[in-house]
Amino acid sequence: MARLAVSTSVPPTHVRKTRQLHRPAGDLGSPGESVLCGIEPACPVRDRAGLLPLRRAQRLYAGRSRPPGAEPAAAGGLGQLRRAPARRDHRGGGDPEPPAPGPAHRAEPVARDREFLVGGGLHGAGLDGLRRERLHPRLRRLPGSRPPMKFFDLGLAEDGLRSELDAAYARVIDSGWTILGAEMEAFEREFAAFCGAKHAVGVGNGLDALVLALRAAGVGPGAEVIVPSHTFIATWLAVAAVGATIIPVEADPRTYTLDPQAAAAAVTPKTAAILPVSLYGHPADMDALMELAARHGLFVLEDAAQSHGAEHRGRRTGALAHATAFSFYPTKNLGALGDAGAVTTDDPALADRLRRLRNYGSERKYVHEVVGVNSRLDELQAAFLRVFLPRLEARNARRREVAAAYARSLPTDIVTPPGEADWARAVYHLYVVRSARRDALQAKLAEAGVQTLIHYPTPCHLQPAFAHLGFRAGQFPLAERLAAEVLSLPMWPGMTPADAEAVAAAIRRTEEGGS
Ligand SMILES: Cc1ncc(COP(=O)(O)O)c(C=O)c1O
Repeated sequence: MARLAVSTSVPPTHVRKTRQLHRPAGDLGSPGESVLCGIEPACPVRDRAGLLPLRRAQRLYAGRSRPPGAEPAAAGGLGQLRRAPARRDHRGGGDPEPPAPGPAHRAEPVARDREFLVGGGLHGAGLDGLRRERLHPRLRRLPGSRPPMKFFDLGLAEDGLRSELDAAYARVIDSGWTILGAEMEAFEREFAAFCGAKHAVGVGNGLDALVLALRAAGVGPGAEVIVPSHTFIATWLAVAAVGATIIPVEADPRTYTLDPQAAAAAVTPKTAAILPVSLYGHPADMDALMELAARHGLFVLEDAAQSHGAEHRGRRTGALAHATAFSFYPTKNLGALGDAGAVTTDDPALADRLRRLRNYGSERKYVHEVVGVNSRLDELQAAFLRVFLPRLEARNARRREVAAAYARSLPTDIVTPPGEADWARAVYHLYVVRSARRDALQAKLAEAGVQTLIHYPTPCHLQPAFAHLGFRAGQFPLAERLAAEVLSLPMWPGMTPADAEAVAAAIRRTEEGGS
């Protein structure tokens, strides 16, 4: 995780707050220290007794006392999952050391396939047989070995975007304030308003958003958390990170999201939370899940990493659960230019605990009430997100137009398109079809120059990381079938409906003996 260099030039408003609260007037602290920690929290701290609120929260949401032997969330549990942080002496000041060399965290296949992200060349055998003359005009004009139909493009060339991003960057540089400052606070306000939630708390990434939200709600060892069997692994990793027990439940095969009836059947006296995922941009059935949670006094944390702006009966993700975790990984519907995340909630006490947890367990400088972590949304990413947020609705609308074109033109004898519940407005983070002969189809599409990906090829319960949990092949048949059948077609806001029709035509041709 890259650390930003920290400037000592502090904006006047922040200097005033810092002086009043944390240090004698005139003492700006040392570089790497004052600007990191010396800012007054956006919300007053209601209860500074660290663990007390966590216990209260668990009672509030679980409706029962902690199971015997259960402890609050494991201190440092998050740390076990995070990459070794750059060594840094924030007390003594000084510049942070660069992070240890190694591959950057790439959270999902979209991201791991870096060439898709940057729109560069497609590597591998699949492109040798390109027959451009049969492709959509947009595909033909691409030179050399560049992919004729990219899976994804960040869309950074969009009109007017570059100058706004440059201005956002300049604002942060000119302010001299790089962590926990005005840009993050403004983004938190703007994003909460967009979602229809009362609070948003910016954190370092989507996985941390999940982990910290569970910790803030007091979910820890001894508690059971119901999760979808079919999801990106971060959902499961978050439950593991707080030391709770993962209870997988199969999805609704039409929406790929947690089936409320299956969730109801999985509730036990130890269940503390439900963690539905609004996967691929389709909201989970939150009304049904919230009703279930209310009946049993459970905490509901929605994983909306893939569904910024999606709606459930006219209300947006971020305002549907007790708390909602978002990732702003660059490829997401709302993406930063690096790692970033947030938790939204209407619960002011939960928001306060999150603010503490993300900042070394501290709201007041050098007073550490809980064992927190360092996971903050930095100023630069917040400033960039403020440029992307006003574009989100239009970008989602373009995704929906592309999805509609797919739905009209895909040959349903070859692939099964995704469903959209009548109560949902999906935002198509991914456009995922199913085919019993998925691998052959993917190979033929690659030959035709159409990039596709698989989200996700191995179900979580069969991942080596979870071998110790003792799950067997065959235990979650739907998750296993989805892993074998799903195929993500090209989808990004800069695509046109004609592009989707061209992909559909390429799919049709795979059954005509040609590609
Ligand atoms: C469903 C889901 N949950 C959680 C995450 C974790 O987000 P991040 O990569 O920002 O840690 C991701 C994405 O990467 C995701 O797709």
